[in-house]
Amino acid sequence: MLEHKIETLFSEQQIQDRVAALGAEITSQYSGREIVLVSVLRGSIFFTTDLARRITLPLAMDFLSISSYGEGSEGVVRITKDLEENIAGKDVLLLEDIVDTGFTLKYLLRTLLSRNPKSLEVCALLDRRARRIIDLDLKYVGFEIPDKFVVGYGLDYKQQFRNLRFIGVVQPDKL
Ligand code: IMP
Ligand code: MG
Repeated sequence: MLEHKIETLFSEQQIQDRVAALGAEITSQYSGREIVLVSVLRGSIFFTTDLARRITLPLAMDFLSISSYGEGSEGVVRITKDLEENIAGKDVLLLEDIVDTGFTLKYLLRTLLSRNPKSLEVCALLDRRARRIIDLDLKYVGFEIPDKFVVGYGLDYKQQFRNLRFIGVVQPDKL
C-alpha cells in the first residue's frame, strides 16, 4: 500500500477535531451575518465540505480553480474556473489548503478584493511559515506545519493521495 510510505502528520481524528473547532470559531465570529465560502479547487475540497458543515450560519459556497506555473515562475497564477456568483457586498471567507510562499494567496486576495466584497478573510487548513515570502494575514489556520511536503485530505503529489483521510509527509524519492 502506498500509504505505508507516508508518515502521518495529522490523523483523521485530529483533522476532524480541528475543523470542528474552526467551524465553531467562525460561527461565533460571524454571528448574525451570511458567509460566502470561496473554495480554491482542488486542494481545499474536503476541507471545504467538512468545514461548511461545522458552520451553523446562513452560508453560500462557491468555487474557483487556479493553475500556477511551476518552479521559477512563482507568483504566476491564473484563474482557470471563476466563481459563479458576484461577491460584491458579501462577507467572503476564502478557503485554502496550504499557504506556502504566499504567492498564490496574494494573487487570489488581490483578485477577490477588486470585486469589492464587504469583507474578505482567509481560512487556511495548513500554514508552512518557514517558506513564506509574501507576508499575509491569515485569520484562521488549521495547523502550522514543518518544511516538509504533505499530502492527503485534498492535498496531492502529482494528483495522487488527495483521498487519504489523514495528512502525511511524503518523500517523493520513496514512491
Ligand atoms: P504558494 O503560492 O507557494 O503559497 O503555494 C501554495 C500552493 O502550492 C497550494 O495551494 C498547493 O496547491 C501547493 N502546495 C504547496 N505546498 C504543498 C504541499 O506540501 N503539498 C501539496 N501541495 C502543496
Ligand atoms: Mg491550493
